[in-house]
Amino acid sequence: MTGAGGPRAVLIGTMGAGKTTVGRLVAERLGVGFADSDQLVEEQRGKSVQDIFVEDGEDAFRALERATVARALEQHDGVLSLGGGAVLDPGTRALLAGRPVVFLRVGLADAVKRVGLGTGRPLLLGNVRARVKQLLDERTPVYEGLARVTVETDGREPSEIAAEIVTALEEQP
Ligand code: S3P
Repeated sequence: MTGAGGPRAVLIGTMGAGKTTVGRLVAERLGVGFADSDQLVEEQRGKSVQDIFVEDGEDAFRALERATVARALEQHDGVLSLGGGAVLDPGTRALLAGRPVVFLRVGLADAVKRVGLGTGRPLLLGNVRARVKQLLDERTPVYEGLARVTVETDGREPSEIAAEIVTALEEQP
């Protein structure tokens, strides 16, 4: 995590959008490193996101996430994927201004298919489909408002999505 320019791309979108899978492929194509905010939080805290939610609570997770994203935006010069809820924090949203933010859009059916039973995703406990729908409804306008590039992911292969992102980034002024 070095470099002054910040990430080449910051991937946002809800759970099941494919941020981690696609983010790795975009990083590969660009020949840069990949970082994922959930993984950075887990490394720093020494436990899983799931355990942080259960043992410390969502507020504690969000505080860690905010600090982690702020640091990564300063220090990481590759591709950065954000946890689906990171953009709920106004401070994080402000930090994303002027960044190459890419929104991976996913519809309800594909999101539900991709998250499966939601294992390891504390916000999906209970009725997965209803929870995913609620999160999509609440958050899609936020993702849209932050994105410089929006990519549709429904029914598409990660490699195809990654290729579209790289092209779109190259076309950015
Ligand atoms: C969350 C999304 C998760 C993880 C946490 C909360 C959310 O990340 O940060 O479980 O609020 O949408 P992914 O979007 O990578 O699954």
